[in-house]
Amino acid sequence: MIYLDNAATSFPKPLRVYDEMDRCMRTYCANPGRGGHAMSIASGKAVSEAREKIAAFFNIDNSLRLAFTKNATEAINIAIKGVIKPGDHVITTCMEHNAVIRPLKTLEKDGIISLSIVEGDNFGRIDIERIIDYINPRTRLIVSTLSSNVNGIIFPVKEMGRIARTRGILFLVDASQGAGAEEIDVDEMNIDLLAFPGHKGLLGPQGTGGIYIREGINITPIMQGGTGSISDYLYQPEMMPDLIESGTLNTPGIIGLAYGVDFINKTGLNNIKVFKHSLIKRLMEGMEEIKGIVQYSLKDIDNNSGIAAMNFKGVDSSEVSYILDKEFGIATRAGLHCAPLAHKTLGTTGQGVVRFSVGCFNTVDEIDYTLKALRKISSRFN
Ligand code: ALA
Repeated sequence: MIYLDNAATSFPKPLRVYDEMDRCMRTYCANPGRGGHAMSIASGKAVSEAREKIAAFFNIDNSLRLAFTKNATEAINIAIKGVIKPGDHVITTCMEHNAVIRPLKTLEKDGIISLSIVEGDNFGRIDIERIIDYINPRTRLIVSTLSSNVNGIIFPVKEMGRIARTRGILFLVDASQGAGAEEIDVDEMNIDLLAFPGHKGLLGPQGTGGIYIREGINITPIMQGGTGSISDYLYQPEMMPDLIESGTLNTPGIIGLAYGVDFINKTGLNNIKVFKHSLIKRLMEGMEEIKGIVQYSLKDIDNNSGIAAMNFKGVDSSEVSYILDKEFGIATRAGLHCAPLAHKTLGTTGQGVVRFSVGCFNTVDEIDYTLKALRKISSRFN
């Protein structure tokens, strides 16, 4: 199979990810922080080293401010529900995934917050000035994706962070598509809260992710439970990461994630970025020559996290994705990608789009084969 669905989850993973998860499970995977025996200590040490490696990747000074979660959705919920107070106002963008939109719309429906959604142009690009227009004295939080999961555009999070910080507003970044694709520096970008999955660009396994919470931000956790620390205390410990990490961690997953990050560090994030850009550019330029194709990703490749979104005029995206899979063995994702507002913005609510998302293990030959397949499909519809 030619796997072009890396925005949903990356595949394959670096070999060391599989090997180290296997070694962990077979040789030392006891419960981290839940015992004084050698295996529990070994698990705890491995988790702690993983935390440090991942924190360093985002330039987080104090790794204890990073808590592991099961995915980015959980991290986003922890962040939003942990800082919001009744009467707050929140600003977000028209390109957000339901992981952001649904918690916010639920809080709005329940009368807890008011919500402003910054609209974008045909590609989902927002005018940063519109954010400033929406700010009012009750604005507590700005939430933005780093990159759209539908068409790959990159958001100006650094400028958004500056706007938020200078006005004392919290800034949450959903790095679901950005982590591992773009350099993220929480300090330089003025990010207060960073939510990320482990299984996409960071090349770790599914069931992993994390939340960074800047020092000084008080979070009310959405869950309480055992942490292995101050067990005689009947309330949730207030120190990070215990405040967030209730229950046994996904130790093998976290180890796998750390080795995914290790692979990126060794390969060089910029090298991965340049390579993925070359594949997307080739794909998009090739698609330009094919009759009947409409594209929704920006030609400005530097502002693309690795996605080419397209349709054949008048053809349902699911049909095209189905043909690509069944007849050509190419994996893509069609439909609305859990991002209905993004599709409304792109004008693709009815049709959805066929999303091709590349990863660092794709090849030029795979892109050329995909273009050949698209040419054959085009001849059927045109
Ligand atoms: N959010 C993931 C995607 O965009 C699953 O496909």
